[in-house]
Amino acid sequence: MKRILIKETTQPNNTPVRVCGWVNTRRDHGGIVFIDLRDISGIIQIVMSANLAKDLRPEWVICVEGIAKERPQGMVNPDVATGNIEIKAEKLVVLSKAKTLPFEISAVKGEVNEEIRMKYRYLDLRREKMKNNLVLRNKIMIFIRDFLEKEGFIEIETPIMTKSTPEGARDFVVPSRNQPGKFYALPQSPQQYKQLLMVAGFEKYFQIVRCFRDEDPRGDRQPEFTQLDLEMSFVEQEEILDLIEKLYIAIIKSEAPGKKISQLPFPRLTYREVIEKYGTDKPDLRKNKDDANELAFAFIVDFPMFEWKKEEKRWDAVHHPFTRPQTDDIKRIKKNPGEILAHQYDFVLNGYEIGGGSLRSYKPEVLEAIFEVMGHEKKEIRRNFGHMLEAFEYGVPPHGGIAPGIDRFVMILANEPSIREVIAFPKTGDNRDLMMQAPSEISAEQLTELHIQIAKKKKKIKNGKKS
Ligand code: AMO
Repeated sequence: MKRILIKETTQPNNTPVRVCGWVNTRRDHGGIVFIDLRDISGIIQIVMSANLAKDLRPEWVICVEGIAKERPQGMVNPDVATGNIEIKAEKLVVLSKAKTLPFEISAVKGEVNEEIRMKYRYLDLRREKMKNNLVLRNKIMIFIRDFLEKEGFIEIETPIMTKSTPEGARDFVVPSRNQPGKFYALPQSPQQYKQLLMVAGFEKYFQIVRCFRDEDPRGDRQPEFTQLDLEMSFVEQEEILDLIEKLYIAIIKSEAPGKKISQLPFPRLTYREVIEKYGTDKPDLRKNKDDANELAFAFIVDFPMFEWKKEEKRWDAVHHPFTRPQTDDIKRIKKNPGEILAHQYDFVLNGYEIGGGSLRSYKPEVLEAIFEVMGHEKKEIRRNFGHMLEAFEYGVPPHGGIAPGIDRFVMILANEPSIREVIAFPKTGDNRDLMMQAPSEISAEQLTELHIQIAKKKKKIKNGKKS
């Protein structure tokens, strides 16, 4: 008999069914055993003779053949989609057994230590809440792809092994075997590639893409995270903001209809205004902060182009150096960097930065001036960004874009306190994957092949001899 999903048993007509899944719970009532069976689609009650159920235990994987029936009156469970039905088991096949789990699948999140949850993430993901979070994430990604396709965007993949792009964090690097002593960097974002795709003439690019930043993780930050990366040619700032506004309103309507957007259109507030009024560039604009269903979107615009880095004693780009200043007067940019505003915008929601973007400098001389203000030597600019400057000499359209973070947005929609709850396999606060035990050492042969030597801690020298 063909296996059917548990959710497909809701129309019982006393026909035989075959369902497969995990034993969620077992309750013994004299000669009868009630098994709650769980599969991807739901949970259903199965009635078995004690003889058939014998030693069945939670989380065993089984297949049951039997008859789906209406439950007797008074036994209906209105909280479960299949609560009006039970299956009278006739045949049982045990496909695999399970040891006692390190935690109960039905335990609420707070009761289980997070390190244990991460070490046994495949068990943690059996919990309904985690499943729902990943299903929501998937629906949002599908919605976005579909929406942007209709808007004329093309999704294009860009390399993961590449060269450093300055987004303000440290790079993760990958040693090269073929090129001794050289390293790839994992992209902090596809920023340069998407701009080069505009030079290539694609006009409307997007990608749901993994980005890598070696910074200390926290509730809303992971070393690898996902962006909806987007770039357009021949656009003004307001066209980009309008598109994002339209997309996010549509996502909420379709995938989170229980949520209420506080203000439409999304307010556009200047950086100066919000710093003065709220003391932060990502204000929480909800009218009622206790209301889990309120969504206060806003765009923060007119950021300063540069900020002074005290420790390094130099100017740095607030967003990134490719951002277009609101003037192309190079003398002014070099003379008064602190006064220059940028065509830069952040997208905020309930006190989180859920996206950032800018129009880009497409005039090579403006881009060069920005790098100079940031303290780069001319030679160094050519070495690190020569490919961008050169590309801009072959016919570049004015362009701009944005990159909303997917993890933070899904976290807020799922009412979760951390993006770890909406990422299938996240890392710990010190960047480890407890399940895979990564990072890990590699063999001496691999190190040799990669031309790498691990620096040994200096040994103490005692009485002239190494100890
Ligand atoms: P930015 O650096 O502002 O812009 O990043 C865009 C958005 O990505 C999300 N984000 C993160 N989410 C989780 N963990 C992290 N470590 C993390 N870092 C960033 C945030 C943020 O708003 N290339 C530019 C975009 C552009 O100019 O088009 C960029 O990456 O939601």
